[in-house]
Amino acid sequence: MQQKIPYIAISLIYWKCIMCGIVGYIGNKNATEVVMNGLKRVEYRGYDSAGIAMFENNKLNVIKKSGRLEELIGIVDTNLHHSNIAIGHTRWATHGLPNDTNAHPHTDNSGNIAIIHNGIIENYRSLKKILTQKGYFFNTETDTEVLAVFIASIYDEQKEKDMSEAVRIALSEVAGAFGLVVLSAYEPDKIICARRGSPLILGIGDNEYIVASDQTAIVAYMDKVIFPDDNEMLVITKSGYIEKTFDNVAIDKEPTKIEFELAQLEKGGYEHFMLKEIMEQAETIENAIRGRILLDSGDVKLGGLREVTDKLRDAHRIILTGCGTSWHSALLGEYLIESLAGIPVEVEYASEFRYRNPVLYKGDIVIAISQSGETADTLEAIREAKRKGCVVLGIVNVVGSSIARATDAGVYLHAGPEIGVASTKAFTSQVTALLLLAILLGRMKSISAPDGIEYLKEIKQLPEKINLILKDTSGIQQIAKRYASAKNFLYLGRGYNYPIALEGALKLKEISYLHAEGYPAAEMKHGPLALIDDDMPVVVIATKDSIFEKICSNIEEVKARGGHIIAIATAGFEGNGFLRSKADHIIEIPETLYELTPILAMIPLQLLAYYIAYELGRDIDNPRHLAKSVTVE
Ligand code: AGP
Repeated sequence: MQQKIPYIAISLIYWKCIMCGIVGYIGNKNATEVVMNGLKRVEYRGYDSAGIAMFENNKLNVIKKSGRLEELIGIVDTNLHHSNIAIGHTRWATHGLPNDTNAHPHTDNSGNIAIIHNGIIENYRSLKKILTQKGYFFNTETDTEVLAVFIASIYDEQKEKDMSEAVRIALSEVAGAFGLVVLSAYEPDKIICARRGSPLILGIGDNEYIVASDQTAIVAYMDKVIFPDDNEMLVITKSGYIEKTFDNVAIDKEPTKIEFELAQLEKGGYEHFMLKEIMEQAETIENAIRGRILLDSGDVKLGGLREVTDKLRDAHRIILTGCGTSWHSALLGEYLIESLAGIPVEVEYASEFRYRNPVLYKGDIVIAISQSGETADTLEAIREAKRKGCVVLGIVNVVGSSIARATDAGVYLHAGPEIGVASTKAFTSQVTALLLLAILLGRMKSISAPDGIEYLKEIKQLPEKINLILKDTSGIQQIAKRYASAKNFLYLGRGYNYPIALEGALKLKEISYLHAEGYPAAEMKHGPLALIDDDMPVVVIATKDSIFEKICSNIEEVKARGGHIIAIATAGFEGNGFLRSKADHIIEIPETLYELTPILAMIPLQLLAYYIAYELGRDIDNPRHLAKSVTVE
């Protein structure tokens, strides 16, 4: 990847984990406060229940509560707790009710060992049976409690007591995935943590440390981190830490600096992170292109791909894969790379990829696209591609994430932390990165230097044009008010704007809970046209391009059946006369090259979804049933 994160071939066998947020602190500060603050940062990873364990008054104190983190905050007064060591967890349940009992931390029978866990212990049933025969008992139905008891059973049998050794032995016998943090009253001067398959990062301060599933829980207190790899563990005291493998081989990693600032994790005056992230897009596109555009020669420089340039040039086929919004950018990537570079591209849902035995050849290049870099389905697709001998690249936002480290090389987006569950700025940055890649490949093939220069000049103007769209959102707000009561929406686009129709519909679905479908506009007549009546708003991307006339025919078809047209149009285009006569509402975006239009067209659709969800009073940043990072298959 662009930031020098060495490639490490991690085992992805165990990516079947639940997504939860974990935080642990040891140092001289009020640990309860640090952990509770950290939990607020990782709550996006799961919000069914939350809990904390601290060592105080010579014993472990465990407090946990079902519901949003707010519920836990309501019963944990950080001023009343004076501990320097604590661990905390936010849960996204896959099995087992999200109630107080199933919330983490889980303890062993004695209450002296507390653990928090992100993952699934696959052999927990057989372990539970053996432990029950030995006389241990269980209060919950969770796999995590079994792990706590299993560690305790090993510790109980040790002649020379050593908690980290008990954890190490236990973990070498469990099957499954874990990001695990252990706090024990037996050895209350240390936190022991380990990972296999689930993210875990160590923050390094002055005589203080934070372990967390995300750097966002660390950056308020320290800016140096290391990224343990699979099958590694850490034993952390106030004065230092030891990193080693489960085979007891010592590891020494150079800490890296966290790339973003604390301020980027705040709402900065906006009511929601989603709106803030939409509004940041001029800047994030600027970041995505910085240092990558060589205007004089019409070339693109993607430093993270330098090592694989030859392989890219010689590729007979590129396979783009990702999930959700990242899949939509992959689809757009297909259009861009095929048209600008003439290389055949296939697009795969990462979630389907490995289950359908795809035909992959050694010379194929697989590119995994992901904002979080932690999506389990995408990681599994990477594993499948590597198993079949492909070069695997990444287009990733989160630096040092599992996908960034599992790929051979790649491109970082530099979009900064994206907190809102609905992806916005990461999408436009992904498309920008794919556009740059398409031009880079195109320049190796058929794009001339003058054409390259023209593309790059236009790309450079994108931030300014994005700001023009964002300057006044009142028109979109009015449209949102008008249609918030609709039950169904259609989004239509053709060519480069077809993936934008899909993404516009996804945005609306996930934050407003309204039904929305994206379609290639010309497909309407093959079935979906039957849905149109005067209750149906139809959002059509009808920008100035070679297929504008075709889109106009599709608009006629919808209008003839009573549908309401919300058109995304190019400002100042003479063809808009037709739109003015047919469309109920027009949202204008600045003119640009056809290939770049999707980036601009996406922004009003993000705003439309946001304001409709706002009208409906939805929980925009944390929509029901969803989590930001989907680390479950
Ligand atoms: C986007 O709005 C969604 N929340 C979701 O589809 C997301 O894009 C998908 O889960 C993939 O995530 P990733 O980019 O972090 O891999």
